[in-house]
Amino acid sequence: MSTAVRAADTPFAVEVEQDKDYWWCACGLSQNQPFCDGSHKPTDITPVKYTATKSRTVFFCGCKATGKQPLCDGSHNA
Ligand code: FES
Ligand code: FES
Repeated sequence: MSTAVRAADTPFAVEVEQDKDYWWCACGLSQNQPFCDGSHKPTDITPVKYTATKSRTVFFCGCKATGKQPLCDGSHNA
């Protein structure tokens, strides 16, 4: 089983749009953080879909250790 790479030490604040789908990078290898760019292909990790229920600022996890994928739950401080 592949292990996710820590892409950042803090979350990414993103202005999401209502009803739009976002694909969060769970592996940490994407060059387009916090979103998937297909770099997970050599691993067994797949991206996590996030559908915005309303337009607002969302904090996507950058450390990839969150227990609430794809959002930051404060685990980056551990
Ligand atoms: Fe990380 Fe796709 S590049 S999940
Ligand atoms: Fe991963 Fe906060 S950035 S839990």
